Amino acid sequence: MTRELEQETIRLLTEYFSRDPRFAFYDYVASGSYGSTYRIQYRENENSQITDFLIKLAHQDEDEDDEDEDPQLMIETERNFLRAMRGGEHISRLIEFNDDPLTVHQFPRSWLALEWIPNGTVINFIRKARDKGVTRLPNRLLWRLFLCLVRGCCGMSWPRNRQDGRTETELPIPGVPAGGFAHRDLHTSNVLFGDLGIAGEHGISPIMKIIDFGLTEMAAPTPAMAQEAMDANVQAIGKVMIELITLNPRIIYEREGTFVFNHLGQDIETDAHLIFQSELGMYPLPFRPYEWLDDWMRVLVGMCRASPANAQHIPNLQSLSVWIPYAIRNRDARFYGNREESDVFIRQLMCHILFDA
Ligand SMILES: Nc1ncnc2c1ncn2[C@@H]1O[C@H](COP(=O)(O)OP(=O)(O)O)[C@@H](O)[C@H]1O
Ligand SMILES: [Mg+2]
Repeated sequence: MTRELEQETIRLLTEYFSRDPRFAFYDYVASGSYGSTYRIQYRENENSQITDFLIKLAHQDEDEDDEDEDPQLMIETERNFLRAMRGGEHISRLIEFNDDPLTVHQFPRSWLALEWIPNGTVINFIRKARDKGVTRLPNRLLWRLFLCLVRGCCGMSWPRNRQDGRTETELPIPGVPAGGFAHRDLHTSNVLFGDLGIAGEHGISPIMKIIDFGLTEMAAPTPAMAQEAMDANVQAIGKVMIELITLNPRIIYEREGTFVFNHLGQDIETDAHLIFQSELGMYPLPFRPYEWLDDWMRVLVGMCRASPANAQHIPNLQSLSVWIPYAIRNRDARFYGNREESDVFIRQLMCHILFDA
């Protein structure tokens, strides 16, 4: 997409949205391989609060012969997946307006409207943390972030398709085998931080939500292939966790390798070698990297990243949905014996990383 075309798009969007008093064009956000995103403000009437949303607009098709990468089709596909997952709290929420300006003006390109998720990508969060001299995230924060990612994956494996506009915490549905979707593009640029809640799961750290379902695939109906889709999502969130633990969004690509760890008498090969093996020596002793990291989390993330030959060790979402809430409930600041694991410290740290200049 050329600069001129982008400018022209911004001009058109500004014009269309400003003609309707409910809306105001706010800003250009980002441009990717098949679409660009824009932030728009919405106000039902003069007395109501402003809420923001995001427009994701397909690029104008430059290579019409290439059906695989037709940007219009990718937006439509994304819409279908988002519709199917409606109701999942950790999945970007699709919004629909009556008589929205793009439909009214018969805008020729495909687009989606999504809730505005205010606090940026995980990759930016990691960069900001490093820039502010943060050297590690508390275990109790990492457990909470891990849980958001697991919830999001449950939203993909058991899509709810709620029609009533309400949201729910995504849990595995007992007795229903995982079906659903493989995201196929799940990484630190496609997970965003939302708002901080008042209590409960998002009481001390903001919710994280999964976005960008442009490359998502429906799991084939056989149990083995549904399992593969679930494993692919779990492997992807394992990598996000490694980047959050190491606070290094790139190290993993720079140093590939594997490590074999023993868990309950079984040898498991993993590519999460960074959190097991330091440059100086081997886990467990004497040179353990990230020595502050809860060993249970180390093992779980290691299993999420089990090598293909050990794929049977990749934990399923049913187990993760029990184990992680257990850790969150039972491993308090006293368990870790460190005041940097307290609620107050974690809340302040998150606000410092996300909001301080
Ligand atoms: N719902 C949203 N709220 C806020 N920002 C968003 C939202 N969706 C996407 N973005 C921003 O726009 C960028 C591109 O969106 P994405 O859906 O990932 O498209 P692409 O396929 O181009 O990667 C994201 O990295 C993020 O910065
Ligand atoms: Mg993206």
